[in-house]
Amino acid sequence: MIILGIETSCDETALALIETRKTGGVFECRVIDSLVHSQAELHSAYGGVYPNLAKREHKKNLPILFSKLFSDLSVLKVDAIAVTEGPGLEPALWVGIEFARELGEKWRVPVIPVNHMEGHIVGSLLESDAPRGSWQKLKEFELPAIALLISGGHTELVKISEGRTSRGLVSGGEASGWSYQILGQTLDDACGEAFDKTARLLGLPYPGGPHISRLATQAEEEGIQPPVKLPRPMIGSGDFNFSFSGLKTAVLYAVRKAQEEDSFTETYKKGLALEFELAVTEVLEKKTRETIEEVGARALIIGGGVSANRRIRERFEKLTEKSSIPLFLPSRHISGDNALMIALAGALRGAPAERNILRAQGTKKL
Ligand code: KG4
Ligand code: ZN
Repeated sequence: MIILGIETSCDETALALIETRKTGGVFECRVIDSLVHSQAELHSAYGGVYPNLAKREHKKNLPILFSKLFSDLSVLKVDAIAVTEGPGLEPALWVGIEFARELGEKWRVPVIPVNHMEGHIVGSLLESDAPRGSWQKLKEFELPAIALLISGGHTELVKISEGRTSRGLVSGGEASGWSYQILGQTLDDACGEAFDKTARLLGLPYPGGPHISRLATQAEEEGIQPPVKLPRPMIGSGDFNFSFSGLKTAVLYAVRKAQEEDSFTETYKKGLALEFELAVTEVLEKKTRETIEEVGARALIIGGGVSANRRIRERFEKLTEKSSIPLFLPSRHISGDNALMIALAGALRGAPAERNILRAQGTKKL
């Protein structure tokens, strides 16, 4: 079965083609091609994603990517289309959904609505070093598992158990299916949003996560100490929720004070980036550890754009080593938004009975 994946939930326009099969009942897939066009530079001027600009760019770029994807391929028959239906920016989502719907009608193939966050989960189950085009099995894990989803729009701790979600069956290989339960989430800003807003306060371009990470690493390499102590919001709240807006406000006050005192130097910025990254990492780690213990989780899956962060990856490698459970991280080239994970999630979910029954879900949660 060949599946076309379409992703337009935020500021990446992405298309991917995968092929799937079952060998001895076990699900296998191979990546035929995966294309991502980032609009980040355009949105940089606004300091964040500007929905109508994203919509315009998706409209412009989808046909270009589509021609590119099929121009050097001998693939003639696509069996199904998987498209992100949410969560994401409504105007941006609709572009992908309409594109999928038209193609679905033209090709007479089913259109499978995919939850973007589920895409981030299954993306972490792909082998990171599988050569393009080669067949691979998904990494296996035992249930219950915890998924920590950290992106520009979400911060969620999700329990994955056996069973059906209300939206249908998700099965990997011979597994009977998964169901999701959100155990905790952010009460205000998302984790990636906090990175982006902090970066802006430090005069760094959008998206700010990689820039904060770079400064924090430089601070460590140069032996620069954090100039202030930032809060670790809700670290002892006793639940699995997060809050990042207070952290951003604390950064704002620190920056203002440093500017007044004429000490807002490059060194100061590096030290503050380090302290910010430490604060976020500590909160993520503590809440995830508590969730793993509470649930008796047998695996930890991390997904979403922030999972590219080196410190966070390392910290969770240590944590899972200590708790003796396997850790599943996306390979860096698919930690950000992409259509490969959407095609894969669509393949696992399977085609709905009716065709083209799509509704944009806006900010709908997993
Ligand atoms: O999953 P994603 O690509 O898009 C959404 O679904 O939101 O996540 C984007 C977020 C942005 O906030 C970006 O700053 C953050 O991921 N990000 C990082 C890093 N790379 C991307 N945050 C921290 N460290 C990084 N290395
Ligand atoms: Zn995402």
